[in-house]
Amino acid sequence: MDPRRILLAISGGIAAYKAPELVRSLRRADHLVRCVLTPEASRFVSPLSLQAVSGHSVRSDLFDAGEEGKIDHIGLADWADLVLVAPATANLMAKMAQGLADDLVSTVLLATRAPILVAPAMNVNMWSHPATQSNLATLRGRGVSVIGPDAGELACGWEGLGRMSDPGVIAEAVAAQGVPPTLAGARVLVTAGGTSEAIDAVRSISNRSSGKMGFAIASEAARRGADVVLVAGVTSLPTPLGVRRVDVQSALEMRETVLAEFDEASIIIKAAAVADFRPAEVSDRKIKKEELAEGASMTLELVQNPDILREISARKGDRTVVGFAAESEDVVAAAKRKLVRKGCDLIVANDISRNDAGFDVDENAVLFVWPNGEVEELPLLPKPGVAAQLFDRIEKLREG
Ligand code: CTP
Repeated sequence: MDPRRILLAISGGIAAYKAPELVRSLRRADHLVRCVLTPEASRFVSPLSLQAVSGHSVRSDLFDAGEEGKIDHIGLADWADLVLVAPATANLMAKMAQGLADDLVSTVLLATRAPILVAPAMNVNMWSHPATQSNLATLRGRGVSVIGPDAGELACGWEGLGRMSDPGVIAEAVAAQGVPPTLAGARVLVTAGGTSEAIDAVRSISNRSSGKMGFAIASEAARRGADVVLVAGVTSLPTPLGVRRVDVQSALEMRETVLAEFDEASIIIKAAAVADFRPAEVSDRKIKKEELAEGASMTLELVQNPDILREISARKGDRTVVGFAAESEDVVAAAKRKLVRKGCDLIVANDISRNDAGFDVDENAVLFVWPNGEVEELPLLPKPGVAAQLFDRIEKLREG
């Protein structure tokens, strides 16, 4: 089960300004969130903002008589299913390692029996200091989970490890806590997003796929402990936590990458919207209008792209291969025909004529179409929910 009640403990680093965004990401994923801050943190982020986004009063003072009357600090520690420390400064990590309890945040961290996830953020030299690394090892040894820090440009002007992980990635790490690793040992290959077929040096043909469904699938596979490779077409989405990503543009590039990853894969999910056709010729320079007669029309000759799903299904062996079907009419019949034509183990069909589901939105209403003719209709669900339902089915299928 996902941890539902998250106590967010914020310590005093510049990354504390991202805390409201983190609260929003967590709430979007249906968690209940309460915030506690160190006094230094409240210099970087306003308790009022946190109260507004979390929907709960925010505490910083251990001896706040009024607040203690509502929920005392031990009550807060007990309330949490998970305590998330973000950002975790070097100082707070040192206090945690030592078991100090000299303010509300450190006291709650000592009192809680809930799992703890820390997202460190600090100067690169503070991070690499043997004291911090030894505290980190101590915390890890006690079962504390750690996300980040990331490398990059730091607020202090230095470059290197020390940036707090992106709030969306921290929210994913929260969602991964306590999930049984039912896909441990499996290699999952996912394709996502649309392909882009070049016309000339600046133009291309693409489609409206956002990649959200495929990215949610990759994220869910990683949550369940799989080794995941995500072959991503045209999309602006960030890489899900724990996923190896290979970016491609065209259908031909996608085919090449999928075939290169094919041998190692045990589960293959083709959520990408692959262009069926590509221009027969690609100009390596920009095609100029002035080269055409005034007002002349232009004809692009298109040739068919290889059908990647069909090709891999034909040689799948004991791999599980899942295809998608984007249909605008007669969805079930079209998906059944597609299942036979492609030869995969399952088709996930969606009706793209609906505007509340499918392309470029956060929810999807899909049908699972099985080779024995069975059709399962799922309700409208957030895409991560669809991904979870899909893996529940795949796991059952693989159990035989
Ligand atoms: N697919 C593929 N290679 C292609 C075209 C599609 O691997 N060249 C895969 C998609 O990733 C998806 C499934 O096949 O998993 C169905 O894609 P879809 O576009 O719905 O079907 P098409 O085969 O393109 O058929 P049509 O456009 O006629 O519906």
